[in-house]
Amino acid sequence: MSDDLKIYNPSPEFSAAAHVSGMEAYQALCKEAETDYEGYWARLARELISWHKPFTQVLNEENAPFFKWFEDGLLNASYNCLDRNVERGLGDKTAIIFEADGGEVTKVSYSELLAKVSQMANGLKSLGLGKGDRVVIYIAMSIDGVAAMQACARLGITHSVVFGGFSAQSLRDRIEDTGAKAVITADCQVRGGKKLPLKAIVDEALGMPGCEKIEKVLVVNRADAPVTMQAGRDVWMADVVAGQSTTCEPVWVEAEHPLFLLYTSGSTGKPKGVQHSTGGYLLHAALTTKWTFDLKADDVFWCTADIGWVTGHTYITYGPLALGGTEIVFEGVPTYPDAGRFWKMIQDHKVSIFYTAPTAIRSLIKAAEANDAVHPKSYDLSSLRILGSVGEPINPAAWEWYHQHVGGGRCPIVDTFWQTETGGHMITPLPGVTPLVPGSCTLPFPGIQFAVVDEVGNDLPWGKGGILVCKKPWPSMIRTIWGDPERFKKSYYPEDFKGKYYLAGDGAIRDEKTGYFTITGRIDDVLNVSGHRMGTMEIESALVSCTELVAEAAVVGRPDDTTGEAVVAFVVLKRPRPTGDEAKAIAKILRDHVGKEIGPIAKPKDIRFGDNLPKTRSGKIMRRLLRSIAKGEAITQDTSTLENPAILDQLSENN
Ligand code: WT7
Repeated sequence: MSDDLKIYNPSPEFSAAAHVSGMEAYQALCKEAETDYEGYWARLARELISWHKPFTQVLNEENAPFFKWFEDGLLNASYNCLDRNVERGLGDKTAIIFEADGGEVTKVSYSELLAKVSQMANGLKSLGLGKGDRVVIYIAMSIDGVAAMQACARLGITHSVVFGGFSAQSLRDRIEDTGAKAVITADCQVRGGKKLPLKAIVDEALGMPGCEKIEKVLVVNRADAPVTMQAGRDVWMADVVAGQSTTCEPVWVEAEHPLFLLYTSGSTGKPKGVQHSTGGYLLHAALTTKWTFDLKADDVFWCTADIGWVTGHTYITYGPLALGGTEIVFEGVPTYPDAGRFWKMIQDHKVSIFYTAPTAIRSLIKAAEANDAVHPKSYDLSSLRILGSVGEPINPAAWEWYHQHVGGGRCPIVDTFWQTETGGHMITPLPGVTPLVPGSCTLPFPGIQFAVVDEVGNDLPWGKGGILVCKKPWPSMIRTIWGDPERFKKSYYPEDFKGKYYLAGDGAIRDEKTGYFTITGRIDDVLNVSGHRMGTMEIESALVSCTELVAEAAVVGRPDDTTGEAVVAFVVLKRPRPTGDEAKAIAKILRDHVGKEIGPIAKPKDIRFGDNLPKTRSGKIMRRLLRSIAKGEAITQDTSTLENPAILDQLSENN
């Protein structure tokens, strides 16, 4: 950070009213955690979570790195999010304001949501589903989607939500890996005025080998889209819940009981099923919602993420509801009917806390600059008091615009760094505490012990870039990779750090003066496109699975103004290298193929064809060269170990 960067201090009035009020309060919390780590988390777990049976043990490190938190405590996540709010007198309070793609608004109160979730849970029970089972949820943003997750949690069923943009193949892979007995889906999803099938994709997935364990498919009717119902297997959700009681005793589960599995990409192999606990996860979901977003009784909270990603789990389904908040659930897209949709919704629903991704902000900046009608200044955004950013680094220019034009210069921006694996915020400003510097996620959340170290785990001084690790286990951390504990150890607790530190997979640097963290990007072969995480290997496998065309493929990321990173693929075909129209046509086939294998988000933006790929004499693909070529940079690296230097010019040509 250079000296000329602006620093934004929270206003004294804001600080005074915040849950965590001022730097001294923050430091006192950090100190409390340092002095008595377990005591700190135990205190918060008692304050924020209602336990059916209180825990007596806090952290169990016996089988490290398979840590356990609050393990002898019993609780239920759905009880914590619903029943206890009703018991506290919030039954009539609006829990969810749902806005559909076309603009129709539906509101549910806490009592109504509890009744709905209970009916759904009773329905699931009537189909023989219960604690110890997995259910895959493949549905768009909806009250039903949130309710389905809550209904699973109510029965101790481990849910695994698959983002509605994933293909049948990806859905199949996840169904097989979870060993799920049922899928909850809808006829279709509605986005940008179009109906996109969901049930048909489930049918396709279930037609592939590996899904034999699926006994039931529950179908929510979203928009009367045509579906084929397979007798004995497929049932309408409406029929399943019809006549079910609106009360359902929650199933009390151990704190370590897996609340959900969520698949995410790593640098190698297939996506991994990140397993989260019930107790520790819910604690951090509630705590970070309270402290990072300063959620209060009359706030209207809006997290724009999809429930198919971890952000939607923690900051839609669990965190805000655990605190009895009112939140928006939005079905549509930010650019429909026009790029003013977010601003209009903030205005209409008097949103006070708004949490979105840099990629959305950047695309809305472009639209606003081209058309005043969709500029935030054309809307009344005075209800806003806090803004949040998540998923990728936010560049200072986008930060400044967000601050000035959306936040009217008065709303703190919390740039929250975290991961699917961490369950909730890890490094983030607190709005009533932290002086903000655009582009920095600032300081660790109180209690979280992040550090920047070298390759063998030695602490690096501030000002020196290195590897981001977490030195202590925390309550909402990943418990294991479903079905693959060895991969969990290797990926997150590698021997490089003697198995002691959690490896985040990102690089980071701390500011010399302030100690503020800035994330410098992934240190592995993981790409971040529009805040969506993808492994280069996954996309490469998808390309080479087009066996009639592709001999070899290498994928790298390239910085992109809107999407953060863009996918660039270098492909060697089984036929001579195509040029001109033929190259264009084949590139289209390959992009569609990747869309089918993984989902549209993984489609390469740029495909270059070569007779070969740049390799060392031992046959290793030289990715750093490909990264330079993808960026259009002149090659300055040493190419003396390259077997076939002429290939570089060929790959630099844009087909
Ligand atoms: C990766 C995790 C966090 C939930 C959504 C994404 C990148 C995330 C930030 C941020 C810089 C960020 C990291 C991280 N990332 N937030 N505020 N600043 N980078 O979860 O799909 O598991 O991706 O997203 O590279 O490792 P995910």
